[in-house]
Amino acid sequence: MSADDLKRAAAARAVALVSDGMRLGLGTGSTARHFVDLLGERVREGLKVVCVPTSEATRAQAESLGVPLTTLDETPELDLTVDGADEIDGRMRLIKGGGGALLREKIVAAASARMIVIADSSKDVAVLGRFPLPVEVVPFGLEATRRAVAAAIARCGCEGPLSLRSAANGGPYVTDGGHYILDAALGAIPDPERLADALARIPGVMEHGLFIGLATGAILATDKGLAERGLV
Ligand code: A5P
Repeated sequence: MSADDLKRAAAARAVALVSDGMRLGLGTGSTARHFVDLLGERVREGLKVVCVPTSEATRAQAESLGVPLTTLDETPELDLTVDGADEIDGRMRLIKGGGGALLREKIVAAASARMIVIADSSKDVAVLGRFPLPVEVVPFGLEATRRAVAAAIARCGCEGPLSLRSAANGGPYVTDGGHYILDAALGAIPDPERLADALARIPGVMEHGLFIGLATGAILATDKGLAERGLV
């Protein structure tokens, strides 16, 4: 099976967990895209749900499929969010934000009773950090914030270059919220909780891609089938 087939298989299992009346958070990225696609099919068959998208890209996809949308202002508590991840470890700690949607993804996950991660098994790691950690920052004061982020990273026993993410046009990548992203290529993050805490204390940091204590379950697709964690 290709990586894309595996992503779709994980998404299909997650769609089976959705029932009538649910309030859903819709993730962002190539795996979440499969979930939204398959959810659209079920909506066409009569499934009744309302959904909060985690990005403008997901909003556009859901709208095009006729999936009913709401906002966290109208619907501040969700039953289930289904989203991809860039990495997941054995304690369901995640790195997210490779697609740049980490801020809305975290707000939506935090508003959900359950968050299920769907991924192919290449995302399953023993130690987080091989995937560069995205840190979303306010453009004002960028260099000062970059130095504070670098210092926090060093204090937490990590090292590696910090780079400003670029867009296709060569300028800085700008998130849906109008912020920039610094990608921290750390290789390994020995204490994710400590780093998450240190980053959250920096005024120019809007959010970081460490999702800790948010995922309640995971569906990881391998060539041999689906590995499920925490689906009750
Ligand atoms: C989007 O900002 C990310 O958090 C994605 O959920 C993550 O990058 C996984 O994306 P893929 O499913 O495309 O690998």
